[in-house]
Amino acid sequence: MAESRQPGARILGTGHYLPAKVLTNKDLEGMVDTSEAWITSRTGIQQRHVAAPDEAASDMATKAARHALVMEGIAATDIDLIIVGTISPDMQLPATAMFVQQNLGCRENCPGFDLAAACAGWIYGLSVADAYVRSGMARHVLVIGVELLTRIIDWTDRNTCVLFGDGAGAAVVGPAQGDGRGILSTHLYADGSMASALCIPAGGSRTPLTQERLAAREHMVQMVGKDVFKMAVKGLASATKTAMEHNGATPDDIHWVIPHQANIRIIEAVQQRSGIPRERFFINIERTANTSSASVPIALDQAVRTDLVKPGHNLLFCALGGGIAWGSAMVRW
Ligand code: ACO
Repeated sequence: MAESRQPGARILGTGHYLPAKVLTNKDLEGMVDTSEAWITSRTGIQQRHVAAPDEAASDMATKAARHALVMEGIAATDIDLIIVGTISPDMQLPATAMFVQQNLGCRENCPGFDLAAACAGWIYGLSVADAYVRSGMARHVLVIGVELLTRIIDWTDRNTCVLFGDGAGAAVVGPAQGDGRGILSTHLYADGSMASALCIPAGGSRTPLTQERLAAREHMVQMVGKDVFKMAVKGLASATKTAMEHNGATPDDIHWVIPHQANIRIIEAVQQRSGIPRERFFINIERTANTSSASVPIALDQAVRTDLVKPGHNLLFCALGGGIAWGSAMVRW
Protein backbone atom coordinates (compact mmCIF):
# COMPACT_ATOMS: atom_id res chain seq x y z
CA MET A 1 0.00 0.00 0.00
CA ALA A 2 1.30 3.44 -0.94
CA GLU A 3 2.31 5.65 1.98
CA SER A 4 -0.49 8.16 2.35
CA ARG A 5 -0.27 11.37 4.33
CA GLN A 6 0.48 11.07 8.04
CA PRO A 7 -2.91 10.85 9.78
CA GLY A 8 -3.70 13.76 12.08
CA ALA A 9 -6.33 11.94 14.13
CA ARG A 10 -7.02 8.43 15.31
CA ILE A 11 -9.69 6.44 17.07
CA LEU A 12 -8.57 6.09 20.67
CA GLY A 13 -11.37 4.00 22.14
CA THR A 14 -14.63 2.35 21.08
CA GLY A 15 -17.77 1.17 22.86
CA HIS A 16 -21.23 -0.12 22.13
CA TYR A 17 -24.51 -0.89 23.81
CA LEU A 18 -27.32 -3.21 22.78
CA PRO A 19 -30.52 -3.36 24.84
CA ALA A 20 -31.19 -6.66 26.61
CA LYS A 21 -34.49 -7.52 24.97
CA VAL A 22 -34.22 -9.59 21.79
CA LEU A 23 -36.98 -9.95 19.20
CA THR A 24 -36.54 -12.91 16.85
CA ASN A 25 -37.93 -13.45 13.36
CA LYS A 26 -40.17 -16.09 14.89
CA ASP A 27 -41.59 -13.45 17.27
CA LEU A 28 -42.35 -11.24 14.26
CA GLU A 29 -44.40 -14.01 12.65
CA GLY A 30 -46.99 -13.35 15.34
CA MET A 31 -46.98 -9.59 14.71
CA VAL A 32 -47.14 -9.08 10.92
CA ASP A 33 -47.74 -11.17 7.80
CA THR A 34 -44.18 -12.46 7.44
CA SER A 35 -42.14 -15.61 7.96
CA GLU A 36 -38.86 -16.45 9.63
CA ALA A 37 -37.64 -17.92 6.34
CA TRP A 38 -38.51 -14.81 4.28
CA ILE A 39 -36.69 -12.45 6.62
CA THR A 40 -33.58 -14.63 6.92
CA SER A 41 -33.28 -15.40 3.21
CA ARG A 42 -34.05 -11.86 1.94
CA THR A 43 -32.05 -9.92 4.56
CA GLY A 44 -29.74 -12.19 6.61
CA ILE A 45 -31.39 -10.91 9.81
CA GLN A 46 -32.32 -13.43 12.52
CA GLN A 47 -32.99 -11.16 15.47
CA ARG A 48 -32.83 -7.55 16.63
CA HIS A 49 -32.45 -5.81 20.01
CA VAL A 50 -35.30 -3.66 21.30
CA ALA A 51 -34.94 -0.87 23.86
CA ALA A 52 -36.85 -1.03 27.15
CA PRO A 53 -39.89 1.28 27.43
CA ASP A 54 -38.00 3.66 29.75
CA GLU A 55 -34.89 3.82 27.54
CA ALA A 56 -34.28 6.74 25.18
CA ALA A 57 -31.57 7.31 22.57
CA SER A 58 -29.44 9.39 24.95
CA ASP A 59 -29.45 6.59 27.56
CA MET A 60 -28.07 4.12 25.05
CA ALA A 61 -25.63 6.69 23.63
CA THR A 62 -24.32 7.42 27.11
CA LYS A 63 -23.65 3.74 27.83
CA ALA A 64 -21.77 3.25 24.55
CA ALA A 65 -19.79 6.45 25.16
CA ARG A 66 -18.78 5.37 28.68
CA HIS A 67 -17.34 2.11 27.28
CA ALA A 68 -15.38 4.07 24.67
CA LEU A 69 -13.98 6.48 27.27
CA VAL A 70 -12.97 3.69 29.66
CA MET A 71 -11.15 1.76 26.92
CA GLU A 72 -8.40 4.40 26.74
CA GLY A 73 -8.82 5.89 30.22
CA ILE A 74 -10.14 9.20 28.91
CA ALA A 75 -12.20 11.31 31.29
CA ALA A 76 -15.54 12.77 30.21
CA THR A 77 -14.10 16.16 31.12
CA ASP A 78 -11.43 15.68 28.42
CA ILE A 79 -14.07 15.72 25.66
CA ASP A 80 -14.12 18.94 23.58
CA LEU A 81 -17.01 18.12 21.25
CA ILE A 82 -19.88 15.61 21.17
CA ILE A 83 -21.34 14.51 17.83
CA VAL A 84 -24.41 12.27 17.91
CA GLY A 85 -25.44 10.69 14.61
CA THR A 86 -29.12 9.83 14.91
CA ILE A 87 -32.49 9.95 13.16
CA SER A 88 -34.31 8.83 16.32
CA PRO A 89 -33.35 11.54 18.85
CA ASP A 90 -34.82 11.78 22.36
CA MET A 91 -36.76 14.86 21.22
CA GLN A 92 -36.84 17.09 18.19
CA LEU A 93 -35.53 19.86 20.43
CA PRO A 94 -32.98 19.94 21.99
CA ALA A 95 -30.26 17.79 20.44
CA THR A 96 -29.61 14.36 21.97
CA ALA A 97 -25.98 15.50 22.42
CA MET A 98 -27.20 17.83 25.20
CA PHE A 99 -28.53 14.92 27.25
CA VAL A 100 -25.35 12.93 26.63
CA GLN A 101 -23.26 15.89 27.82
CA GLN A 102 -25.22 15.98 31.08
CA ASN A 103 -25.25 12.21 31.59
CA LEU A 104 -21.50 11.89 31.10
CA GLY A 105 -20.59 14.93 33.22
CA CYS A 106 -18.59 16.64 30.48
CA ARG A 107 -16.86 19.93 31.18
CA GLU A 108 -18.98 23.05 31.43
CA ASN A 109 -20.17 24.32 28.04
CA CYS A 110 -18.72 21.39 26.09
CA PRO A 111 -20.34 21.82 22.65
CA GLY A 112 -22.33 19.11 20.95
CA PHE A 113 -24.78 18.57 18.13
CA ASP A 114 -26.84 15.91 16.42
CA LEU A 115 -26.06 14.91 12.87
CA ALA A 116 -28.84 13.50 10.67
CA ALA A 117 -27.30 11.44 7.89
CA ALA A 118 -29.28 8.26 8.70
CA CYS A 119 -27.15 5.11 8.32
CA ALA A 120 -24.16 7.20 7.22
CA GLY A 121 -24.42 9.33 10.39
CA TRP A 122 -21.45 7.87 12.23
CA ILE A 123 -19.13 8.03 9.21
CA TYR A 124 -20.22 11.63 8.61
CA GLY A 125 -19.47 12.28 12.31
CA LEU A 126 -16.08 10.59 12.05
CA SER A 127 -15.21 12.86 9.14
CA VAL A 128 -16.13 15.97 11.16
CA ALA A 129 -14.18 14.70 14.17
CA ASP A 130 -11.13 14.02 11.99
CA ALA A 131 -11.27 17.59 10.64
CA TYR A 132 -11.65 19.11 14.12
CA VAL A 133 -8.75 17.16 15.60
CA ARG A 134 -6.46 17.60 12.57
CA SER A 135 -7.05 21.35 12.54
CA GLY A 136 -6.42 21.63 16.28
CA MET A 137 -9.96 22.92 16.95
CA ALA A 138 -10.52 20.01 19.35
CA ARG A 139 -8.31 17.46 21.06
CA HIS A 140 -10.89 14.79 21.90
CA VAL A 141 -14.16 14.34 19.99
CA LEU A 142 -16.81 11.84 20.99
CA VAL A 143 -18.55 10.42 17.92
CA ILE A 144 -21.68 8.43 18.67
CA GLY A 145 -24.15 6.64 16.42
CA VAL A 146 -27.40 5.79 18.21
CA GLU A 147 -30.80 4.65 17.03
CA LEU A 148 -34.01 3.66 18.67
CA LEU A 149 -35.62 2.73 15.38
CA THR A 150 -38.19 0.39 16.93
CA ARG A 151 -39.98 3.56 18.14
CA ILE A 152 -40.19 5.19 14.72
CA ILE A 153 -41.03 2.26 12.46
CA ASP A 154 -44.52 1.22 11.46
CA TRP A 155 -45.14 -2.13 13.14
CA THR A 156 -47.97 -2.83 10.69
CA ASP A 157 -45.70 -2.47 7.62
CA ARG A 158 -43.90 -5.74 6.93
CA ASN A 159 -41.77 -4.04 4.27
CA THR A 160 -39.89 -2.09 6.94
CA CYS A 161 -40.61 -3.34 10.47
CA VAL A 162 -38.64 -6.59 10.07
CA LEU A 163 -35.45 -4.76 9.10
CA PHE A 164 -34.50 -2.57 12.05
CA GLY A 165 -33.16 -2.78 15.59
CA ASP A 166 -31.94 -0.54 18.43
CA GLY A 167 -28.41 0.11 19.63
CA ALA A 168 -25.56 2.56 20.08
CA GLY A 169 -21.89 2.67 19.15
CA ALA A 170 -19.26 5.27 20.05
CA ALA A 171 -15.66 6.24 19.42
CA VAL A 172 -13.32 8.78 20.95
CA VAL A 173 -11.24 10.50 18.29
CA GLY A 174 -8.00 12.17 19.37
CA PRO A 175 -4.61 13.22 18.00
CA ALA A 176 -2.53 10.71 16.04
CA GLN A 177 0.96 10.00 17.35
CA GLY A 178 3.01 10.22 14.17
CA ASP A 179 3.38 6.46 13.82
CA GLY A 180 1.27 6.14 10.67
CA ARG A 181 -1.77 4.91 12.60
CA GLY A 182 -5.02 6.83 12.42
CA ILE A 183 -7.77 8.04 10.11
CA LEU A 184 -6.30 7.87 6.58
CA SER A 185 -9.29 9.20 4.66
CA THR A 186 -13.00 9.96 4.77
CA HIS A 187 -15.26 10.44 1.72
CA LEU A 188 -18.84 11.69 2.07
CA TYR A 189 -21.58 11.78 -0.57
CA ALA A 190 -25.29 12.61 -0.88
CA ASP A 191 -28.03 12.54 -3.50
CA GLY A 192 -31.00 14.62 -2.35
CA SER A 193 -32.99 13.71 -5.47
CA MET A 194 -33.71 10.38 -3.75
CA ALA A 195 -34.95 11.92 -0.49
CA SER A 196 -38.43 10.39 -0.75
CA ALA A 197 -37.07 6.83 -1.15
CA LEU A 198 -36.45 6.67 2.61
CA CYS A 199 -38.10 9.23 4.82
CA ILE A 200 -40.44 10.09 7.68
CA PRO A 201 -42.93 12.26 5.80
CA ALA A 202 -44.84 13.93 8.66
CA GLY A 203 -43.86 15.74 11.84
CA GLY A 204 -41.51 18.35 10.38
CA SER A 205 -42.06 21.87 9.05
CA ARG A 206 -43.06 20.63 5.56
CA THR A 207 -45.95 18.48 6.77
CA PRO A 208 -46.66 19.09 10.46
CA LEU A 209 -48.32 16.31 12.37
CA THR A 210 -52.10 16.29 12.20
CA GLN A 211 -54.65 13.74 13.41
CA GLU A 212 -55.06 12.55 9.79
CA ARG A 213 -51.33 12.12 9.22
CA LEU A 214 -51.01 10.36 12.54
CA ALA A 215 -53.82 7.96 11.58
CA ALA A 216 -52.12 7.36 8.21
CA ARG A 217 -48.89 6.55 10.09
CA GLU A 218 -46.96 9.19 8.15
CA HIS A 219 -44.86 9.98 11.21
CA MET A 220 -43.05 6.66 10.77
CA VAL A 221 -40.28 5.42 8.47
CA GLN A 222 -41.35 4.81 4.88
CA MET A 223 -39.02 3.19 2.37
CA VAL A 224 -39.00 2.16 -1.28
CA GLY A 225 -36.82 -0.85 -0.49
CA LYS A 226 -35.87 -1.78 -4.05
CA ASP A 227 -34.63 1.72 -4.93
CA VAL A 228 -32.59 1.97 -1.74
CA PHE A 229 -31.18 -1.51 -2.32
CA LYS A 230 -29.91 -0.65 -5.81
CA MET A 231 -28.48 2.65 -4.64
CA ALA A 232 -26.81 0.95 -1.66
CA VAL A 233 -24.94 -1.55 -3.84
CA LYS A 234 -23.85 1.16 -6.27
CA GLY A 235 -22.94 3.78 -3.64
CA LEU A 236 -21.15 1.48 -1.23
CA ALA A 237 -19.16 -0.27 -3.97
CA SER A 238 -18.09 3.09 -5.37
CA ALA A 239 -17.20 4.60 -1.96
CA THR A 240 -15.20 1.49 -1.09
CA LYS A 241 -13.28 1.70 -4.35
CA THR A 242 -12.60 5.42 -3.83
CA ALA A 243 -11.24 4.77 -0.32
CA MET A 244 -8.83 2.15 -1.65
CA GLU A 245 -7.74 4.25 -4.63
CA HIS A 246 -7.23 7.34 -2.48
CA ASN A 247 -4.87 5.40 -0.23
CA GLY A 248 -3.12 3.46 -3.01
CA ALA A 249 -4.51 0.24 -1.50
CA THR A 250 -5.39 -3.01 -3.24
CA PRO A 251 -8.02 -5.46 -1.92
CA ASP A 252 -5.15 -7.46 -0.37
CA ASP A 253 -4.19 -4.47 1.79
CA ILE A 254 -7.56 -4.36 3.55
CA HIS A 255 -7.64 -6.42 6.75
CA TRP A 256 -11.27 -5.67 7.69
CA VAL A 257 -14.21 -4.08 5.98
CA ILE A 258 -16.75 -2.92 8.53
CA PRO A 259 -19.82 -2.23 6.41
CA HIS A 260 -23.22 -0.86 7.34
CA GLN A 261 -25.39 -3.86 8.20
CA ALA A 262 -28.61 -3.29 6.24
CA ASN A 263 -28.98 -6.44 4.19
CA ILE A 264 -26.60 -9.39 3.75
CA ARG A 265 -27.32 -9.33 0.00
CA ILE A 266 -26.11 -5.72 -0.19
CA ILE A 267 -22.92 -6.64 1.70
CA GLU A 268 -22.31 -9.63 -0.60
CA ALA A 269 -22.81 -7.52 -3.73
CA VAL A 270 -20.38 -4.89 -2.42
CA GLN A 271 -17.90 -7.63 -1.51
CA GLN A 272 -17.99 -9.05 -5.04
CA ARG A 273 -17.55 -5.64 -6.64
CA SER A 274 -14.71 -4.65 -4.31
CA GLY A 275 -12.60 -7.78 -4.83
CA ILE A 276 -11.92 -7.90 -1.07
CA PRO A 277 -12.25 -11.50 0.22
CA ARG A 278 -15.56 -12.37 1.94
CA GLU A 279 -13.86 -13.44 5.18
CA ARG A 280 -12.54 -9.90 5.66
CA PHE A 281 -16.06 -8.47 5.94
CA PHE A 282 -17.18 -8.19 9.56
CA ILE A 283 -20.83 -9.22 9.67
CA ASN A 284 -23.20 -9.09 12.65
CA ILE A 285 -26.48 -8.36 10.85
CA GLU A 286 -27.97 -11.70 11.91
CA ARG A 287 -27.89 -10.55 15.56
CA THR A 288 -28.40 -6.77 15.37
CA ALA A 289 -30.42 -6.13 12.18
CA ASN A 290 -30.12 -2.60 10.76
CA THR A 291 -29.29 -0.13 13.53
CA SER A 292 -28.71 2.75 11.06
CA SER A 293 -26.07 5.19 12.34
CA ALA A 294 -25.14 2.81 15.18
CA SER A 295 -24.41 -0.06 12.82
CA VAL A 296 -20.76 0.60 11.91
CA PRO A 297 -19.55 1.67 15.40
CA ILE A 298 -21.28 -1.33 17.04
CA ALA A 299 -19.60 -3.68 14.56
CA LEU A 300 -16.25 -1.91 15.00
CA ASP A 301 -16.37 -2.23 18.78
CA GLN A 302 -17.32 -5.92 18.55
CA ALA A 303 -14.40 -6.53 16.17
CA VAL A 304 -12.01 -4.63 18.44
CA ARG A 305 -13.14 -6.33 21.66
CA THR A 306 -12.87 -9.82 20.15
CA ASP A 307 -9.28 -9.05 19.06
CA LEU A 308 -10.05 -9.44 15.37
CA VAL A 309 -8.64 -5.98 14.82
CA LYS A 310 -4.90 -5.70 15.54
CA PRO A 311 -2.58 -2.68 15.62
CA GLY A 312 -1.50 -1.81 12.07
CA HIS A 313 -4.58 -3.34 10.42
CA ASN A 314 -6.18 -1.36 7.60
CA LEU A 315 -9.91 -0.96 8.22
CA LEU A 316 -12.45 0.22 5.67
CA PHE A 317 -15.83 1.55 6.85
CA CYS A 318 -18.75 2.19 4.47
CA ALA A 319 -22.41 3.09 5.02
CA LEU A 320 -25.42 4.36 3.09
CA GLY A 321 -28.90 5.36 4.18
CA GLY A 322 -31.72 7.89 4.02
CA GLY A 323 -30.87 11.09 2.20
CA ILE A 324 -29.59 9.33 0.27
CA ALA A 325 -26.36 9.93 2.20
CA TRP A 326 -23.35 7.67 2.10
CA GLY A 327 -19.62 7.55 2.68
CA SER A 328 -16.50 5.58 3.45
CA ALA A 329 -13.49 5.92 5.70
CA MET A 330 -10.16 4.18 5.94
CA VAL A 331 -8.29 3.80 9.19
CA ARG A 332 -4.93 2.27 10.08
CA TRP A 333 -5.61 0.81 13.53
N1 ACO B 1 -42.32 -10.81 4.84
C1 ACO B 1 -42.84 -11.45 3.77
N2 ACO B 1 -42.94 -10.90 2.56
C2 ACO B 1 -42.50 -9.63 2.42
C3 ACO B 1 -41.94 -8.93 3.50
C4 ACO B 1 -41.87 -9.57 4.74
N3 ACO B 1 -41.37 -8.94 5.82
N4 ACO B 1 -41.58 -7.71 3.06
C5 ACO B 1 -41.90 -7.65 1.76
N5 ACO B 1 -42.45 -8.81 1.38
C6 ACO B 1 -42.98 -9.20 0.08
C7 ACO B 1 -43.34 -8.00 -0.75
O1 ACO B 1 -44.64 -7.56 -0.42
C8 ACO B 1 -43.27 -8.56 -2.15
O2 ACO B 1 -44.44 -9.27 -2.41
P1 ACO B 1 -45.15 -9.17 -3.85
O3 ACO B 1 -44.12 -9.70 -4.81
O4 ACO B 1 -46.33 -10.05 -3.69
O5 ACO B 1 -45.45 -7.74 -4.05
C9 ACO B 1 -42.12 -9.56 -2.04
O6 ACO B 1 -41.95 -9.85 -0.65
C10 ACO B 1 -40.81 -9.08 -2.59
O7 ACO B 1 -40.60 -7.78 -2.12
P2 ACO B 1 -39.33 -7.00 -2.57
O8 ACO B 1 -39.45 -5.58 -2.16
O9 ACO B 1 -39.04 -7.31 -4.01
O10 ACO B 1 -38.24 -7.72 -1.68
P3 ACO B 1 -36.70 -7.50 -1.79
O11 ACO B 1 -36.09 -8.76 -2.16
O12 ACO B 1 -36.33 -6.28 -2.57
O13 ACO B 1 -36.32 -7.20 -0.28
C11 ACO B 1 -35.87 -5.40 1.26
C12 ACO B 1 -36.92 -6.10 0.39
C13 ACO B 1 -35.33 -6.40 2.25
C14 ACO B 1 -36.51 -4.23 1.97
C15 ACO B 1 -34.72 -4.89 0.36
O14 ACO B 1 -35.25 -4.18 -0.72
C16 ACO B 1 -33.72 -4.03 1.08
O15 ACO B 1 -32.95 -4.50 1.88
N6 ACO B 1 -33.66 -2.74 0.75
C17 ACO B 1 -32.63 -1.86 1.28
C18 ACO B 1 -32.81 -1.49 2.72
C19 ACO B 1 -31.68 -0.58 3.12
O16 ACO B 1 -30.54 -0.75 2.74
N7 ACO B 1 -31.94 0.44 3.87
C20 ACO B 1 -30.80 1.30 4.12
C21 ACO B 1 -30.81 2.21 4.99
S1 ACO B 1 -32.04 2.28 6.22
C22 ACO B 1 -31.90 3.86 6.92
O17 ACO B 1 -31.27 4.73 6.40
C23 ACO B 1 -32.69 4.13 8.14
